[in-house]
Amino acid sequence: MHEIGKILFDEATIADMVQELGGRISRDYAGKDPMVVSILKGAVIFTTDLMRRISCPLTVEFIQASSYGMSTKPSRNVIIKKDLESDIAGKHVLLVDTIIDTGETFDCLMKTLSGRKPASLNAVVLLDKVCHRLVDVPITYRGFEIPDAFVVGYGLDYNEQFRNLPYIAMLKTES
Ligand code: IMP
Ligand code: MG
Repeated sequence: MHEIGKILFDEATIADMVQELGGRISRDYAGKDPMVVSILKGAVIFTTDLMRRISCPLTVEFIQASSYGMSTKPSRNVIIKKDLESDIAGKHVLLVDTIIDTGETFDCLMKTLSGRKPASLNAVVLLDKVCHRLVDVPITYRGFEIPDAFVVGYGLDYNEQFRNLPYIAMLKTES
């Protein structure tokens, strides 16, 4: 059975970080009308909060990737399950996810999107599980570094559960 364990980031702490990231993006992208590309499903809550903290005009698109194989093993196969609905050529793209773990999903999406010739492509990640990184991915806008733990809430799931928690917590495993 799985229960919620220690809360790592409460609502107010998350909101402060989202505001900080949104402020930096607003300054960097003034006059550029960026396209926010949100990675389904885990980035939905982060994206909708972040968008409201970005002051320049923007558009939003969604993309979904699927990976096969163990998340702890290198060389997983990542495929695009749901693609963008518009062309990103010449656009200033911000690829958004709530968490980066091994980096394989992000790496695959960054490579795919950069092949479509955007004017620029930068990554925004709220949580960085840096100790699990297998693929080096440049992250321009990074929120919190987190320890080697499975976390849920604020869009992140365990078996599709817990996405609706307004905070980010560790998952307690009891046998
Ligand atoms: P990566 O390809 O290993 O970087 O995995 C990225 C994806 O795995 C994220 O977009 C999440 O959907 C999922 N993920 C990785 N770590 C966690 C976690 O601690 N909790 C919930 N989902 C996670
Ligand atoms: Mg998941």
